[in-house]
Amino acid sequence: MKLWGGRFKKDSNHLVEDFHSSISFDKRLYKQDIEGSMAHAHMLGEQGIITKEEAEQLIAGLQGILEDIKANKVEFMIGAEDIHMNIETILTERLGNVAKKLHTARSRNDQVALDFKMYLKEEVKDIIDLLLDLEEVLIQLAKDNIHTIMSGYTHLQKAQPITLAHYAMCYAQMFKRDIERLEDCYERMDYCPLGSGALATTTFPIDREMTAKQLGFAHVCANSIDGVSDRDYAIEFAACASMIMMHLSRISEEIIIWSSNEYRYITLDDEYSTGSSIMPQKKNPDMAELVRGKTGRVFGDLQTLLVMMKGIPLAYDKDMQEDKEATFDAVDTVKKALLVFAPMLATMTVNKQRMKDGVKYGFINATDTADYLVGKGVPFRQGHEIVGHLVAYCEENGKALDELTLDEFHQFSDAFADDVYAAIDVEKCLADRKVYGGPAPEAVKVSIQEMEDWLKNQEANKLK
Ligand code: ARG
Repeated sequence: MKLWGGRFKKDSNHLVEDFHSSISFDKRLYKQDIEGSMAHAHMLGEQGIITKEEAEQLIAGLQGILEDIKANKVEFMIGAEDIHMNIETILTERLGNVAKKLHTARSRNDQVALDFKMYLKEEVKDIIDLLLDLEEVLIQLAKDNIHTIMSGYTHLQKAQPITLAHYAMCYAQMFKRDIERLEDCYERMDYCPLGSGALATTTFPIDREMTAKQLGFAHVCANSIDGVSDRDYAIEFAACASMIMMHLSRISEEIIIWSSNEYRYITLDDEYSTGSSIMPQKKNPDMAELVRGKTGRVFGDLQTLLVMMKGIPLAYDKDMQEDKEATFDAVDTVKKALLVFAPMLATMTVNKQRMKDGVKYGFINATDTADYLVGKGVPFRQGHEIVGHLVAYCEENGKALDELTLDEFHQFSDAFADDVYAAIDVEKCLADRKVYGGPAPEAVKVSIQEMEDWLKNQEANKLK
């Protein structure tokens, strides 16, 4: 018998049952569902809507179900549709009539909104923790490579000198913003929908503050229609998750390029690479490729949620049941990606000499050569042109800029003097880029310090 079966004369067609049942995936919400029901039962008792003894019986019964599910002793029934009705059905089997009082002053609409928010709040905290772990790895990578000079790229063409530390701290900044975005998202999520009922609250004298507090919410949703209709928080979460994946995908792309035989900037640890079934020499960066590949799933989840919500009238519509699989997939994918990514990064070997060698013939001191001419009174645009000709000459003759003789320099401009060699030494070019936010070791040390201070503060302010 369906919990909602009173007005029906026939059972659901088996196709309908299969199509609309969500227990196969929303069983994941059992803990939140039971905790929410316990808080609701307690409140009903406190408010005299049911007796305190009844409330205690319900809470004890729910506790028993929670333990049994954890111990894998419960079989869910597809006929009971979703996790909410499965648990209520089991409770009724166990307690009899008193269980039928649990759903007083409540609807599955506020129940599911509550469960889903409680679930996502937990997951957001977990994902922030994983991001914090990744930040630690990036900071360590930076600390170990303050002086590891390498080419910075634009258009994947060698551009100007940076260090691996500067590069690592770039991603640390991106993931810091991702953490802050999740914290913002969490704050907006921290409104309890319980008590919204189906859409218009209830005539019973419920205490919404009491349940919200017991369930760890900072606030109560201020509009009951909004309470059951809002899925912004899932969409916002999926947007945050998409941004994290986009960042992970970019760094993955670099890991993949850098581990290629042409670059050999890094070597991935055996534990985080895989081989080929036919080519014995292969050591593939599959983990980074999978992170890059799985990024599309999360973007798809965001799209699923946005499209699901865009055309549905207030308040609840069954379309919204589709929120779960998309959100679960985004959560699982981001967590798995972060879990594998941090240790993969922490265990890779940096081939410092390869990075340094890469700097030698990349003309990454060309801007500095033009800047040198500016110092000698040549207007920058003219200096740019002169160095352009110099680079072409070097390419034809297989030389780096600092390998030219002074005579050769003079063929292009009289402004060059002996001090040009010191001026375009790449270590010096790097050290001179010491403005705030720059790659010079002294500037990167500041950036690391700031990030460490932020992290410490973050630990102290951890979301409860
Ligand atoms: N399984 C449903 C969902 O996930 C629960 C809410 C059902 N509400 C309803 N009015 N049919 O959305």
